[in-house]
Amino acid sequence: MIENRIASPTDWDGWRSAARGLIARGVAPDRAVWSVAGGMRDLLADDHAPLPVEQSPAPFSVPRGFFALAESAILHRDPARFALLYELLWRLQNEKSLLSISIDPLVTKLEGMAKAVHRDQHKMKAFVRFREIAADDGAHFVAWFEPEHFIVEATAPFFARRFTNLDWTILTPDRCAHWNKIALFFADGASKSDAPAHDAIEEIWRTYYRSIFNPARLKVNMMRKEMPKKYWRNLPEAPLIKPLTDAALPASHGMIAAGGSAAKTNPQRMTDVKKQADDLFAQAPGSLAELRREAAHCRACPLWKDATQTVFGEGAAHAPLMLVGEQPGDKEDLAGKPFVGPAGAMLDRALEEAGIERKKTYVTNAVKHFKFTPRGKIRLHQKPNTAEIKACNPWLQRERAAVKPKLIVALGATAAHGVFGKAMAIGKNRGKLMELEDGAKALITVHPSYLLRVEEKDKAREYAAFVHDLKVAVKYLARR
Ligand code: URA
Repeated sequence: MIENRIASPTDWDGWRSAARGLIARGVAPDRAVWSVAGGMRDLLADDHAPLPVEQSPAPFSVPRGFFALAESAILHRDPARFALLYELLWRLQNEKSLLSISIDPLVTKLEGMAKAVHRDQHKMKAFVRFREIAADDGAHFVAWFEPEHFIVEATAPFFARRFTNLDWTILTPDRCAHWNKIALFFADGASKSDAPAHDAIEEIWRTYYRSIFNPARLKVNMMRKEMPKKYWRNLPEAPLIKPLTDAALPASHGMIAAGGSAAKTNPQRMTDVKKQADDLFAQAPGSLAELRREAAHCRACPLWKDATQTVFGEGAAHAPLMLVGEQPGDKEDLAGKPFVGPAGAMLDRALEEAGIERKKTYVTNAVKHFKFTPRGKIRLHQKPNTAEIKACNPWLQRERAAVKPKLIVALGATAAHGVFGKAMAIGKNRGKLMELEDGAKALITVHPSYLLRVEEKDKAREYAAFVHDLKVAVKYLARR
C-alpha cells in the first residue's frame, strides 16, 4: 500500500501533486491509501511501502469537467473522497468520456458529493447571521455557522466581497474565517460559546421577518427545504417561525374573511417597517447586484471556460413579469446582456405587440454562459444539456427569490426545464398558466429564435401564436 498524507481536509494542491505522482508511478487506486495529517491514520499507520519506480506513462490530459467536479467534491466530508477522486483520475486515463456517463456509479457518486457541497455553500451564504460586538478598534461582527462540509475557505471570499467595509469573523467547528477589511485569514475551529448570542440588529431582522411573512402563501414543506431546521437555531428570526406558522391557518382564513383587509391594518406602520426592512435587505446577501457579481465567477459547469463572460439577467428589480430564455447567444456573450441579438429583436417586437414594456420586466436565461462550437470564424450555438441547466439553476432560483415576479414566462424548452426543474413538453403546455411549487405562476411558450427558423409559410401563424401567449401573461397580470 502507498500512504498519501494530505496536509488538511481541503488540501487540493496536496491531493493533486500526490495523485500526479501516483499516476506517474502507475499506482492503481487499490494500492493507494489516503489520509489527512493529524487524523486517525496518522496514529495507526505502519504500512509505508516503498514507492514504485516511476514508469513515465504516456502523458494524458484531464478532461475539462474534472477540475470543476474535483475542486468541489474534495470539500465533501466523506473521508473516501480522496480515494474516489483518484479512482476517477485513474480511469480517465483510458476512459476519455467517462465524465459524460452520468450513470457510472463513480461519476454519480462524485457528482452527488459536489452538489451537496454547492448546496452547503448556498446555505452558508443564506443563513450566516452576524452579531455585533464592541471591539477596541470599533465594531466587529461575529457569526456562528455549522457547515456540513469543509466549505469555509471556499465560501469566505463571498462574505469578503459582500461585507468589504466591516470587520467580521465566521466561527465554525472546522475552521474560522476572519476579515479585517483588507485580507482574509483562517484559523482552527471554534465552539459555539465563542460566538455572541444576541444584539440589537436582531430585532430588525425579526421585524422584517414578521412583516414579510404572508400566511396565505405559507408552504411549510417548501420552507423547510429552503431553510432546513438545523439552521434555525442560529437565526434571529428562528423564534418566530413556529408561532407564525402555527398562527398561519387562522390568520389566512381571517384575511379571506376580511377580503384581504387584515394585511392592510395600520398601512403606515407596515410601509415604514417594510421600507426599513427593504433597506436592510438591499444590503443582504442575495441582492441582485451581489448575485451578478458572484455569478461572474461561476464555475459550476465547464461552459465558463470558452464563454466571454457570465451573462446575468437584467431589468426591473421587482418586476411582476420575469422572462426566461435559454442561454446567451453570440451577441449576448460579447455584450454581457441577455436578448440583444436577433432573437432579442424578435422578442422586443412581440413584447411591444402584446403591450409589454420590456424595461418593466426582468429578462434572464436558464443558462448564463454561451455554449457553442467554433466553425471557422463563427461560433455555432449549441443547446445546453441537462447537467448544464441544473448547474446554472441556483442562479435562476436566486434571481427569482430576489425579484419575486408574479409570473414567469419560460421561452422554449431549456427555459421551461430551468423554471420547472424538469423537462416540460412545449406543445402540450404552452400558453397555460401553471403553478410552481412555491405558489408562483409560470407560462411556457416557444423561444423567439424558433420564429426566426420556422419555414416562411408558417412564420406569420407562429408569430401570432407567440404574441397570443404573451397576451395571456398580460391578462393574468392585469387581473392581479
Ligand atoms: N437566446 C436566449 O435564449 N437568450 C438570449 O439572451 C439570447 C438568445
